Amino acid sequence: MEEISKIPQHVSIIMDGNGRWAKARGKVRLEGHKEGVESVRACLEFAVEMKIKYLSLFAFSTENWGRPSDEVQGLWALMLKAIERETKYLIKNRVRVLMLGNLQQLDPDLRLAIEGLMEATAGGQGTTLVVMINYSGKWDIVQAANRFAEENPGKQMLPEDFDRYLITAGVPDPDLLIRTSGEERISNYMLWQTAYTEFYFTDTLWPDFRKKEFRLAIEEYARRDRRFGKVKQNNE
Ligand code: IPE
Ligand code: IPE
Ligand code: MG
Repeated sequence: MEEISKIPQHVSIIMDGNGRWAKARGKVRLEGHKEGVESVRACLEFAVEMKIKYLSLFAFSTENWGRPSDEVQGLWALMLKAIERETKYLIKNRVRVLMLGNLQQLDPDLRLAIEGLMEATAGGQGTTLVVMINYSGKWDIVQAANRFAEENPGKQMLPEDFDRYLITAGVPDPDLLIRTSGEERISNYMLWQTAYTEFYFTDTLWPDFRKKEFRLAIEEYARRDRRFGKVKQNNE
């Protein structure tokens, strides 16, 4: 297979379109989420193969609590099952897992499983999988500002300080953000962290987004010209 010239260090994905995938097949929304878990596995395998250092996934937004409670509960149950099913694979493949967001609002059982998974994979030297749950960009910014003010009374905050107080502290900003299902919006995701991120939108629904589609996104990224506000050295 063709070599990709530029591999991003951090790829983030807004996994969207599970409900529409299910609806198109006359199934309930939860079936779409179930199939979406298979895409998570496929994309993680691809990230490991391509030696992508960080793969982050938006799995549940703070706004998603507004969905019918059977869907919300179904999503958390799926997450718990996936943790139980995948722990062995993750350790074997040296994947370190971080689950970030407002975890305090989650069920104690799930929280325990999350903490267990993070501990069990903490030594992973390969890809870091970052799962964003009960997360929103505005929440992140506000909690960072509050914590900074509490710990540094009277001090002015610098952009570098902010990075250290965000929930994503220690994770580099995404180089590439993929959103599936044809929606072209940020939906309160990593607002601060995407300041210079490349965006990639595809009509493919998340349950259909597997290795082939992931590869296309990475190939497109390799063709992008990132300037960070500067002028390119070789530009005429
Ligand atoms: C993404 O798929 C999964 C979550 C947000 C948890 P959706 O459930 O948003 O699917 P659509 O957008 O309704 O098709
Ligand atoms: C964004 O998808 C949240 C996640 C992928 C977890 P949504 O489906 O919730 O976003 P909107 O409502 O279309 O903006
Ligand atoms: Mg959606």
